[in-house]
Parts: sequence; C-alpha cells; structure tokens
Amino acid sequence: MNFIELAKNRFSCKNFSDKALDRDSLNTILEAGRLAPTAQNRQGQHIYVVESKEGLGKIDELTPSRYHAPTALIVAYDKNNTFTYPGDKCDSGVEDATIVLTHMVLAAASIGVDSCIVNFFDPDKLKEQFDLPDNEEVIAIIDLGYKAEGVKPLEKHFKTKELDELVTFL
Ligand SMILES: Cc1cc2nc3c(=O)[nH]c(=O)nc-3n(C[C@H](O)[C@H](O)[C@H](O)COP(=O)(O)O)c2cc1C
Repeated sequence: MNFIELAKNRFSCKNFSDKALDRDSLNTILEAGRLAPTAQNRQGQHIYVVESKEGLGKIDELTPSRYHAPTALIVAYDKNNTFTYPGDKCDSGVEDATIVLTHMVLAAASIGVDSCIVNFFDPDKLKEQFDLPDNEEVIAIIDLGYKAEGVKPLEKHFKTKELDELVTFL
C-alpha cells in the first residue's frame, strides 16, 4: 500500500469489536510514535497505555468516545520540555505531541489496527483521574483495536476539500 492509499484507508472507528490488541501491534504503534520528529528533537511526549478495566472505566466517565476500544493511549507532553518560538507567542508542545499521535495512528492503519483520535474530554479531569504529573499536558486519547463487524467510515470521512481550497502557491 502506498502512503496515499494508507492515508485514505485510515478512518475514525466508532465501534470496536471485543478483540484485544496484541502486544506486537501495540509495540509497532508505540515505536512509530517514538520515531516521530519533535522540535529540537526534545522528545517531550509521554504516552500512557490504558488497557485495564479500571483505567478504561475512568476514560468512559470522561468521554463517550471510547467506543469499546480495548486499548486507549493517552498522549501527553512535558510542558517544561518544549521549544518556544521566536516571538514567545507559542511553543512546540501541542504540535510535537500531535505529530507523535499522527505517526501512531497511521502506523496502526498500516498494520490493520483501527483507531479513533479523541479530544472530547476535559484534559484536566483526565489528569486528575490518572494522577498524571503537573508538568504534563494531555492533548488527546487514541482509541485502538479492531472495528466491529459492519463498521465503515462515516460519510464525512469522504468529504475532503479540494487541494486548491487548501493550498496557495505564493
Ligand atoms: C483532533 C481530533 C479530535 C477528535 N476528537 C474526536 C472525539 O472526541 N470523538 C470522536 O468520535 N471523534 C473525534 N475525532 C474524529 C473526527 O471526527 C474525524 O477524524 C473526522 O470527522 C474525519 O473523519 P475520519 O477520521 O473518519 O476521516 C477527532 C479527530 C481529531 C483529528
């Protein structure tokens, strides 16, 4: 599969089967995140793997968007280990962690693991529930697993803008 096919094939899975994610697949996904570029190569990301009944239950209390996924990754970054852009307006924390997240989601798709990126939750409440350190900010959860029978991408997955709406040659 070439990259464009892979990118087209990935979709947000909103109903997972009971099938557990095997350790090799999880390791491949985590490794893809480890290899992601970060500003100044600071690698401030921190990924939490949630698979226990208790942990998944906590996630369910915070968001309706786990969709029975057997594995959930919490993607966080160390706010004291980011690159601050000249001008001091923002730092690289969110984008570094987002690139890590994107590597993991696409790696999942490349090995037939379904996923959904989730940010419909209060990150401070999540930090509290899992007792995460003060210096970390949570950007998203990634649901991982295998789609339930009959699950297909939602219609909006196919409603992508044309290149000329998104790209300007200067
Ligand atoms: C940053 C981000 C946050 C998202 N949060 C949620 C969420 O909380 N719940 C959910 O069901 N889907 C969520 N999604 C999935 C999007 O709705 C979905 O990616 C978008 O509609 C395009 O569909 P596709 O992923 O199937 O191509 C999120 C996606 C992104 C990129």
